[in-house]
Amino acid sequence: MRESVVVGNWKMHKTIAESIRLVTELKGLLSGKRDTVTVVAPPFTALNSVSIALQNSHLKLAAQNVHQAAQGAYTGEISASMLLDAGCSYVILGHSERRLYFAETNDTVNKKLRLALDEGLAPIMCIGERQEERDAGRTEEVLTIQLTEGLKGLRVQNLAPLIVAYEPVWAIGTGKNATPELAQEAHATIRKHLGDMFGSVFANGLRILYGGSVNAENIPGYVDLPDLDGVLVGGASLNSESFAKIVTSFD
Ligand code: 13P
Repeated sequence: MRESVVVGNWKMHKTIAESIRLVTELKGLLSGKRDTVTVVAPPFTALNSVSIALQNSHLKLAAQNVHQAAQGAYTGEISASMLLDAGCSYVILGHSERRLYFAETNDTVNKKLRLALDEGLAPIMCIGERQEERDAGRTEEVLTIQLTEGLKGLRVQNLAPLIVAYEPVWAIGTGKNATPELAQEAHATIRKHLGDMFGSVFANGLRILYGGSVNAENIPGYVDLPDLDGVLVGGASLNSESFAKIVTSFD
């Protein structure tokens, strides 16, 4: 039985004061609910304050990115040890916005994954096809390339903390969520490919999340899908009531 995971990716939203307010509300709404692993990913500037606000709760903290070097002269970048120091236990890697706007490639994602695993941060690895790739019938090919290259050279015995998030680019922030049938199909493809790469024991234990225009209204369609183990939520995670509703749907 795989434990469900719900992650709120706040992207570039919320000041420190707004972040503390949001997690304080979430703590209240989710008190006593422990079946689902619940993770929030505020912007870097709010991580430490949110970590303090989350003390004595079961909510976990993620960063939205990390640099691939352990330390060094990389102006403007943040290292894994800094994230651990700020209270993070997870890190989102390879989000399509980072691939699109910040030139991240499967190779960069691979380097960041290795570092995150080495340093003890659980990676949430994002993959997904663009609209034109889906239209061209290339979804399976794109997903398998992202997985093969992103996880190249990694050893199965180090991959236990890995979470994969399927986020079709055309569904992100568009209100055009993937139908549950389509999400299930992609998740099954991902699980099968990872079974081919790392064996069925690993693949059967891996958590695969769906992301892309998930909200409190459409979440019931996803919760019972056999290969879906949670969701990665953008816009709807900025409101405590809608995010809490999404989390409790999995309990
Ligand atoms: P939305 O839920 O706003 O579509 O964003 C999804 C996402 O990108 C989460 O990482």
